[in-house]
Amino acid sequence: MEIAVIGTGYVGLVTGGCLSELGNNVTCIDIDEDKVATLKQGISPIYEDGLTELLQKNIENGNLHFTTDYKTGLSDKSLVYIAVGTPQGEDGSADLTYINTACESIARDLANDVVIVTKSTVPVGTNEYIKDKIETNLEKNITVKIASNPEFLRQGSAVHDTFNADRIVIGSDDEEALQTLEKANADFNLPIVKTDLRSAEMIKYASNAFLATKISFINEMANLSEKIGANIDHVAKGMGMDARIGNAFLNAGIGYGGSCFPKDTRAIISIGKDAAYDMPILENVVESNDRQRGILVDKILERYETIKGKKVAVLGLAFKPNTDDMREAPSILVTEKLLVEGAIVNAYDPVASDNAKKILPEQINYTSSIEEAVEDADITIILTEWKEIKAFPLEHYKKHMTNAVIFDGRNCFELEGAAGSGVEYHSIGRPTVNG
Ligand code: UDX
Repeated sequence: MEIAVIGTGYVGLVTGGCLSELGNNVTCIDIDEDKVATLKQGISPIYEDGLTELLQKNIENGNLHFTTDYKTGLSDKSLVYIAVGTPQGEDGSADLTYINTACESIARDLANDVVIVTKSTVPVGTNEYIKDKIETNLEKNITVKIASNPEFLRQGSAVHDTFNADRIVIGSDDEEALQTLEKANADFNLPIVKTDLRSAEMIKYASNAFLATKISFINEMANLSEKIGANIDHVAKGMGMDARIGNAFLNAGIGYGGSCFPKDTRAIISIGKDAAYDMPILENVVESNDRQRGILVDKILERYETIKGKKVAVLGLAFKPNTDDMREAPSILVTEKLLVEGAIVNAYDPVASDNAKKILPEQINYTSSIEEAVEDADITIILTEWKEIKAFPLEHYKKHMTNAVIFDGRNCFELEGAAGSGVEYHSIGRPTVNG
């Protein structure tokens, strides 16, 4: 099929790359000239497993193209995906500025009948708005149908997730648009859920809000387990074996971050408010997560009278492993708090340091290895469970640190091993070891 994808962020780039891999002729459109120039050379601006190889292969075989020009990009396409960003607006609702610009450009340059497919996460009702906006601005007499195809991919495994998704959701109020989209997705060979426009939009928000709730729930169980002397590893295992609960997303930690959960939970609350419907569960999920991000520093301040002048090593800055994304990363709040308390902060992340430098306080010293970060440190804090951090033996902290005291926000180590290593080990929802 002839396909255009508007926006080359995480979602757009992965969507365009994967659709071209299926043999479609795909043109990705982005207004950022530098980005398009880099992409044309097959260089991905984001760190995503397998993406560079996928882009290069399909650029070379002629299935994948990039342009800044809407007219060229839209020419002869039957499907046009909108995958521009919908950041959080000041009031918590989704900011539709980029959607509006994309609609105006599509309406100006479209020359044939198309199905517009929204990939961006948009408030319920936005697809009808998009259709209306394009139709009222159309310069030629053509037919535009609209469909929603929300994405559920995770950063770090986006390409893998696209080809191995649990389901593909397609929603439209137009039967022909549904059929076109079903055809476009057939070669993924994955279960397809067909529904109406508004339900498709709602599935995305409801799924992310549910997963965020699951994380906040297990985090609260972890905090309580600590207080009453239980171990959250055992509690989560015992809960997760109940198929109705499921064992995924039961890892307690210092809260969820990233570009989706924080934004989408606030957005669905805002959608509720617009519909005059309060959602106390979700309001508390957001509040619980905000509190969770601060709990490691709270633990440190309980353990020490002051951390003024103490050397603190922070390991892991990205919001989760296998990504360089710093959006809503717990490291933002944690490093700010440490500096306010007067600590000297060394930080290490295998890939996110460059992005971190743009947003974290400038007093932080970045190191190029774990060893360098923890050398002579009084306290180590683990914020992201990178493989490399999990593989760094606890005994080594004893060798490098002045005082081997570790606060692990991601439960990277087994308690038995920690006990034998001799380090003082604090984690989430489990008893302190050697404390
Ligand atoms: C998420 C959804 O999984 C995906 O379906 C949606 O399309 C976009 O948002 P992503 O943000 O890439 O994907 O990351 P994910 O792996 O889901 O993790 C999100 C956050 O939750 C991370 O901060 C992670 O550390 C945290 N998390 C996840 C936990 O704290 N505990 C868990 O058990 C799982």
